[in-house]
Amino acid sequence: MRKGTTFTRFIIEDLRKLPEATGDFTLLLSAIVTACKEIADDVSRGQLINVLGSAETENIQGETQKKLDVISNDILIRALEWSGHLGGMASEELEEAYPIPAKFPKGKYLLVFDPLDGSSNTEVNVSIGTIFSILRCPPGVSEPTEEDFLQPGAKQVCAGYVLYGPATNLVLTTGQGVNGFTLDRDIGEFILTHPKLTIPEKTHEFAINMSNQRHWEPAVKRYIDEVVAGKDGPRGRDFNTRWVASMVAEVHRILMRGGIFLYPKDERENVKEGRLRLLYEANPMSFIIEQAGGAASTGRERILSVKPHRLHQRIPVIIGAREEVERVERYHLTMD
Ligand code: AHG
Ligand code: MN
Ligand code: MN
Ligand code: MN
Repeated sequence: MRKGTTFTRFIIEDLRKLPEATGDFTLLLSAIVTACKEIADDVSRGQLINVLGSAETENIQGETQKKLDVISNDILIRALEWSGHLGGMASEELEEAYPIPAKFPKGKYLLVFDPLDGSSNTEVNVSIGTIFSILRCPPGVSEPTEEDFLQPGAKQVCAGYVLYGPATNLVLTTGQGVNGFTLDRDIGEFILTHPKLTIPEKTHEFAINMSNQRHWEPAVKRYIDEVVAGKDGPRGRDFNTRWVASMVAEVHRILMRGGIFLYPKDERENVKEGRLRLLYEANPMSFIIEQAGGAASTGRERILSVKPHRLHQRIPVIIGAREEVERVERYHLTMD
């Protein structure tokens, strides 16, 4: 018999500790994870099954969709719509919230997801992922509208991501710490490999898309100037930089060895509210990062406290090691 706790065992035992835990929630998580295993399989076969390249359609974000954006979105919808656990779903790739078809039973949760994060990397075989967030459907609501999804991140019941890299990792929080799993392809199960993840407070690594430097606000310019100045600058030590262009991969790196990730807003018209999406990128990742002892801020306030006003709302994201995030916040607050 193999050693290690399977994901199935972990969620049954972990959720038993939660007062409101029900079999429903366990089964919902299990259905999400099954969908992600299917996405992992398509991603790993890539060009062999003709899933790379552009779908030549445009999503609500104004982005040209990759074939894998569309495929991953369909896999998640089809794997979950029948389950009876959801009142509705919302996705990066769908303009409006997806109502559960009348032929299926409805449930008490809402699911919000980024089916494929970092999809600019699909053709170059660099890590990509799926991000998801589970909210409660407001009591008595059987046909949720957009408004029902617009809950601050602090209300999330669960957040997670699956990273499709050299190994496939699942990282999850239900508000009681963060745990990481690795897919054992031989038995098709995620195995608990990274229990109780925490982020080191001090860091020497930062992630930001430097090509946007000329557009940043003064506080972000100052922070990056200081870390780039290294041991001769005000920080008195050298920093290292990384940019994968997959938020899932950046957050995973921060959970594994520390660091800070910034996607600030800037002066450009399409980035004036930020680049990343609040409901299915910033909120789930902020919940995970906070639960691992890190911090997540817009630069001016805690991301999880922001009340969303639109499904596809964008927001500035500064997340990772607490001390660094707090420093960037200080710079914003003193330079405003
Ligand atoms: P998505 O592929 O889901 O649209 O998200 C991509 C996001 C995020 O993962 C990454 O941090 C960022 O966009 C990269 O943006 P740039 O191309 O501007 O660096
Ligand atoms: Mn996209
Ligand atoms: Mn994304
Ligand atoms: Mn995406």
